[in-house]
Amino acid sequence: MGKNIIVLGTQWGDEGKGKIIDLLSNRVNYIVRYQGGHNAGHTLVVNGKKIVLHLIPSGILRKNITGILGNGVVISPYVFLNEVNMLEKKGYFIKNRIKISNSSFLLLKYHELMDIFREEQLKKKSDNDFYIGTTCRGIGPAYEDKIARRGIRISDLNHMDLLISKLHRNLDFYNFLFRKYYKKPIIEFDSVMKEILDTRNELLKMATDISTILIDANKKNKNVIFEGAQGTFLDIDHGTYPYVTSSNSTSGGASTGSGIGPRSFDYILGVTKCYLTRVGSGPFLTEQLNEIDSHFFKFGKELGSSTGRRRRTGWLDLPLLRKSIQVNSISSLCLTKLDVLDGLKNIKICVSYRSLKNNKKFHEVPDHYKDWEDLEPIYEILPGWNDRTKGIKLFSLLPKNAQNYIRIIEELVKIPIDIISTGPDRLDTIFLRSFLNKLI
Ligand code: IMP
Repeated sequence: MGKNIIVLGTQWGDEGKGKIIDLLSNRVNYIVRYQGGHNAGHTLVVNGKKIVLHLIPSGILRKNITGILGNGVVISPYVFLNEVNMLEKKGYFIKNRIKISNSSFLLLKYHELMDIFREEQLKKKSDNDFYIGTTCRGIGPAYEDKIARRGIRISDLNHMDLLISKLHRNLDFYNFLFRKYYKKPIIEFDSVMKEILDTRNELLKMATDISTILIDANKKNKNVIFEGAQGTFLDIDHGTYPYVTSSNSTSGGASTGSGIGPRSFDYILGVTKCYLTRVGSGPFLTEQLNEIDSHFFKFGKELGSSTGRRRRTGWLDLPLLRKSIQVNSISSLCLTKLDVLDGLKNIKICVSYRSLKNNKKFHEVPDHYKDWEDLEPIYEILPGWNDRTKGIKLFSLLPKNAQNYIRIIEELVKIPIDIISTGPDRLDTIFLRSFLNKLI
């Protein structure tokens, strides 16, 4: 039987999953996106040229890969087909290697407008508690429609009469809010219909029953990677609600978002950046607003690849990482961007929190974001290293203090670190215990 591996981020996204998936993709045949939409972004550099992908799994550039968008993904038809056509023009013939679920939902122009209008209004209000800082791609409203059972699925494209009446009903609802609540122009039925008619045939050619494809693939000894977008603490259920995205980015989402049962997964790799970043609003206890932030920003190139926003940065937070291991059933970790710590005099790791009210120590992450305001991080301070780790491929060649740093994290979170990334290149990687190597 082929193996099913989930690769996901253990933090707030942007952990460097793209490189690791790329690295493993020569040993698998399918890469599945199971949630999110074009809020995600991967920048690939191929032959010195930049390619940015938002919806299509990045492994698609390898000829052995079939890229799949599961039912848990929300698909913007124009964005998706523009990506397909852009790759075809560059000579990557992927049309026959990309499949979308009959049950994925369409993300349409009115979702995007709703996201923009809502965020604009919230930003203006003095009470900043409700401003999320979304990517304004329409992700939240598209999932709202899904949950409210008024969403339009790919398979609705086979039932145009029904689709047209659904669209009329949805536009009545959205246009009422646009006009009355947000005081904005309405969106015309014909303009939304145009996007649907322009893209319908192409989408239907790729639409299929993903669950059966994946089960059959395993039977034929094919390995599959399930690629989590965003990260654990942006998960709608387990993240720092309400400062989250609107889908399940945790490992459970791989099952519900692709249609194969929870017992199907063999390995869950948690990708963890050696420090923390987040984009948009929300709690962040170890955030640094000082020269450490400048260091992470400069050496980690911490600019969002979808929106170009500067990422907030801070020290690694182990209570968060432990919770992530717990909610995802993580098998092992891949530590990324070790080289970004090069040159720091001291490196801090948050090992627990202290209550500002009563000095009590906490090892758990509070459920309510307001409760984070009463906590401060307790740090273990480790000596940094002057030598470069960039590009090192063997653990024994790392500076002693870097080895020590990795061992301490492993001890404190009690699961193995399997892979360490020491630079952006595929080759800048240390395989430590290679559990994954044995599996696929
Ligand atoms: P949304 O997914 O556009 O609704 O945004 C909700 C929150 O998730 C915002 O704080 C975004 O900045 C964040 N977010 C969404 N996608 C990503 C991503 O791919 N990387 C990092 N943060 C993201």
